[in-house]
Amino acid sequence: MRSPGEATRPASVCEAALRLGHDRPMLEVRALAKSYGEVPVFRQVSLQLAAGEFVVLIGESGVGKSTLLNCIAGLESVDAGEVVFDGRSIGALDADARARWRRAHLGFVFQAFHVLPHLSVADNVALPLLLLDRPDPRRVASMLDRVGLLALAQRWPAQLSGGQLQRVALARALVHRPALVLADEPTGNLDPAQALRTLELLAGTVHEEGAACLLVTHSPAAARLADRVLELRSDGVVDAAGCRST
Ligand SMILES: Nc1ncnc2c1ncn2[C@@H]1O[C@H](COP(=O)(O)OP(=O)(O)OP(=O)(O)O)[C@@H](O)[C@H]1O
Ligand SMILES: [Mg+2]
Repeated sequence: MRSPGEATRPASVCEAALRLGHDRPMLEVRALAKSYGEVPVFRQVSLQLAAGEFVVLIGESGVGKSTLLNCIAGLESVDAGEVVFDGRSIGALDADARARWRRAHLGFVFQAFHVLPHLSVADNVALPLLLLDRPDPRRVASMLDRVGLLALAQRWPAQLSGGQLQRVALARALVHRPALVLADEPTGNLDPAQALRTLELLAGTVHEEGAACLLVTHSPAAARLADRVLELRSDGVVDAAGCRST
């Protein structure tokens, strides 16, 4: 993590943003509020992510971190506020257009993996590319290699450990080079060394490919790799130093 006075982003981020022609945030969350029935989860949640920025989101258990990622992905409705991706409001899209947006631009690592049990490891990772009609076995092999699972490519998910499943989910989230990566505790099942390698892979990929990444984690190692650390509270997002984020 960088101290507040330091330049906030590495040079590679600025280069990636320039390459993509981005002078506006890749992701803008504006005054989001969410409740389940009568029970409020959070309100006044605002944050911005630039292309190539790797941002860690922390917060107490139950404060709504997974819910916020689902709201940003358009998988959950919101009560107020707006999610804007690359200048477009996601809430304004109908369900089909939102699904197409997710397929093309979003990589999501779920807290509970969601690896498909009836597909091999390789086919799970290949799926986002197939859905985009862009099959690319070399890219699939390269992602499996990066997460250390090339030798297990033909296994079924039921034959993998929890940590291996988590790495399949990570490879699948990155394989189609999404512009926005949302990751929910992607290292929760990994030993510390494997967790660090996985986080370095995630941070490196995000910086290289100019994606914006919002990572939910309690890992201090992730916070050290992050461009910024934000904390979710029930009444908004603050940076880890306690200042309001936007
Ligand atoms: N579908 C749902 N219906 C009703 N309440 C829900 C639902 N999903 C989550 N909640 C509640 O919303 C709150 C936020 O849940 P969420 O899973 O987003 O928390 P979290 O910050 O990700 O927690 P953790 O760190 O434990 O993963 C919790 O109080 C939870 O019980
Ligand atoms: Mg959660």
